Amino acid sequence: MTATKPTIRPQNPCFGSGPCSKRPGWSPAALEGALTGRSHRSEDGRARIKEVSDRSRQLLGVPADYRVALVPASDTGAMGMAMWSLLGPRGVDVLAWESFGQTWADDITEQLKLPGARVLSADYGHIPDLAQIDFGHDVVFTWNGTTSGVRVPDASFIPAEHDGLVICDATSAVFAMEVPIARLDVVTYSWQKVLGGEGQHGMLILSPRAVARLESYAPSWPLPKIFRLTKGGRLAEAIFAADTINTPSMLCVEDALDGLRWAETIGGLPELTRRSQTNLAVVAGWVERTPWVEFLAADPAIRSSTSICLKIVDEWFTGLTTAEQAQVPKKMVSLLESERAAYDVASYRDAPPGLRLWGGATVLPADLEAVFPWLDWAYAEVKRG
Ligand SMILES: Cc1ncc(COP(=O)(O)O)c(C=O)c1O
Repeated sequence: MTATKPTIRPQNPCFGSGPCSKRPGWSPAALEGALTGRSHRSEDGRARIKEVSDRSRQLLGVPADYRVALVPASDTGAMGMAMWSLLGPRGVDVLAWESFGQTWADDITEQLKLPGARVLSADYGHIPDLAQIDFGHDVVFTWNGTTSGVRVPDASFIPAEHDGLVICDATSAVFAMEVPIARLDVVTYSWQKVLGGEGQHGMLILSPRAVARLESYAPSWPLPKIFRLTKGGRLAEAIFAADTINTPSMLCVEDALDGLRWAETIGGLPELTRRSQTNLAVVAGWVERTPWVEFLAADPAIRSSTSICLKIVDEWFTGLTTAEQAQVPKKMVSLLESERAAYDVASYRDAPPGLRLWGGATVLPADLEAVFPWLDWAYAEVKRG
């Protein structure tokens, strides 16, 4: 392994998995037309918010009878609203194979304390047996586990007809993978992932069956205003027609629109997906020729093309204690950041120590190619001590 310090840096060193890199060519000038200082409830403000929903709907192929809303508190807010508003009347199967799925499982078992809940778990790098899911229950899962780089292989495990509701946290999957929304009842995501938007704003998509549940079931627990999707037992339709629950940032709205317009310009979902797949293939090429790393997800069928997680398999590393291992990516990151060669490439704090590279469409393959020699160099430097 060469320890020579590379000379060429990636043009864009942002490889973090959220907030993710802005689109190629982005600059603050993209926000010049933002409706700052104006009310989000004005005609112009509502038009911008509606444009976000409409363009998202179009790009993602959301069925016409599904509702789309901009909601507070990012993806976590959207998932909280969905779980607190909808769960309770049926058993729940929740899937957990990394940190975020585990968060939803903890919400269901420790906060909502739902008596019929089953947690189907798997270790980092693996996925639970999807055949064990009871679709007579409500099902909660994460399409792409951002902290382990493991995704569901496709939608075939979800029966087209299911009695329970299927609630999907799709935040690091939408706009990068085929997520057939018509099979799902609730889809949530935030803006700062695949299209490189800003944090704090969530998107909530509901099927007609999810709406029917909202209108026929009132949870026994109280809901704060920030979570309430109904009014007088009926769906609060206004939220799904550009009347947000509370005040959004019109700067972030403008930025989200910039990302959506860019996605349309380059060719929509097929091109976004293709770019992400190309990035995964580029990383796979490097992993193939690099003895010290492997994918955390051994099975290519469940390997994420967005949050690409790698483990260090070199004998020197595997011989270290867990605490010592955890220091290795930290030291690498610090070296890489001081060189301005790569930012935010360590694995998530709860995941096994390793590296994580974002492969969504805002990242260019040439920048990944440029970062690999830096990763080799940083690893050799840390190993050398
Ligand atoms: C799968 C998944 N779910 C939820 C979250 C939390 O998202 P947010 O910070 O948008 O609430 C993240 C953030 O990375 C995530 O990757």
